[in-house]
Amino acid sequence: MGIYSGLVFGAPVAFSKASKLKGLDHSYPSGHTLRQRAWNEFKPDVMKAPWGQSVIYDRYSYIDLNNYKWRLEGFEWNEIREKAKELDKKIDDGIIPVRKGPLRIVEGIWLIDVDGQQNIYVLVTENGLVLVDPGMEIFSTKIIEQIQMLGYQKSDVRWVLLTHCHVDHAQSASFWSENGAKILIHKNDFNAVATGNEITAWWTVHDEKDRYFPPVKKDLIAFEDGDVIDFGSLKVFVCHTPGHTPGSSCFYIRKDEKNMLISGDTIFHNGKHGWMGHPYVDYEAYINSLWKLKNFAVEGKVHNEEGRLMVREPIKYDILMPGHTAISMDMVDRDINKGIEIMSYTIQERKKGNDYQWTEPYSFFAERIYSKAEPIRIEYR
Ligand SMILES: [Fe+2]
Repeated sequence: MGIYSGLVFGAPVAFSKASKLKGLDHSYPSGHTLRQRAWNEFKPDVMKAPWGQSVIYDRYSYIDLNNYKWRLEGFEWNEIREKAKELDKKIDDGIIPVRKGPLRIVEGIWLIDVDGQQNIYVLVTENGLVLVDPGMEIFSTKIIEQIQMLGYQKSDVRWVLLTHCHVDHAQSASFWSENGAKILIHKNDFNAVATGNEITAWWTVHDEKDRYFPPVKKDLIAFEDGDVIDFGSLKVFVCHTPGHTPGSSCFYIRKDEKNMLISGDTIFHNGKHGWMGHPYVDYEAYINSLWKLKNFAVEGKVHNEEGRLMVREPIKYDILMPGHTAISMDMVDRDINKGIEIMSYTIQERKKGNDYQWTEPYSFFAERIYSKAEPIRIEYR
């Protein structure tokens, strides 16, 4: 048992040496400099969740959080559905503002919002921009517009960092590669993006004619668990978190004195998890990944009793930047704990023989509180 209490229930992450990922050239082409501005513009609206968490909301999380509140106030679900419709209309009519990109998360980290559902991030380094999960090709024009609103150009995008290979995160990778960016993805999802195979789109896109994934033909770089991707003035720590796809990965960065977790489809605000309707999902890997994230450690004191450099203090994340829905500006621990509760429940239901795949956490937790259900039995890993 580790001395640090936070490590009692989860296996500590044996972090590999701080290897600099090879193949990254930081130098700009001659005559090209990065212009920076707008640090104090594009501030997001932040709302408080009923449990006190600060949230950069989108349309759906705004409605979900209100549904949660109404249920705890005693409204029945059919009444809540009607109230939610009214809320939806007020958003449509512009009475309730919802987010519009670009939005500043912290200095040098931006949210690009293209359709109200997809979270695309821009990380500013001294050597150019890192674009995280640029999504579908049709988003590219809006991404470029918003990058320009921040004072940058399309050609400033030097790297595209992918959390996983799904079409809604990675379809435009080849477009950005053709525009001179290097594309980075975990080695287990590498082949999917390199070949456009069925993992990327075939199971995620309903309409067969839309199942389109152009393979990335050049400058595709694989990273692996424990890599530290060195973008010069910004370092990205890779935590491989399989479950949703084999190569799903989360990224830890320290920026503006904040610990930020970029989590793709692995963990969302309030413990929501990624879609599990594919034949290649892995529930056991998923819950292991959530524990791994909870105990993820890259620095700090060595606590191992034999004096070996293995056990480090888990990171206390300040901000959760998922691939969809709301961004948590604090209480990220709660998001991960709720994710572990949901995945524990899912695993237990599946062991009973129920084909249980997915949980909508706002109504799930509201209903459990309202009906005074027993606490969920946690699956420790
Ligand atoms: Fe996904």
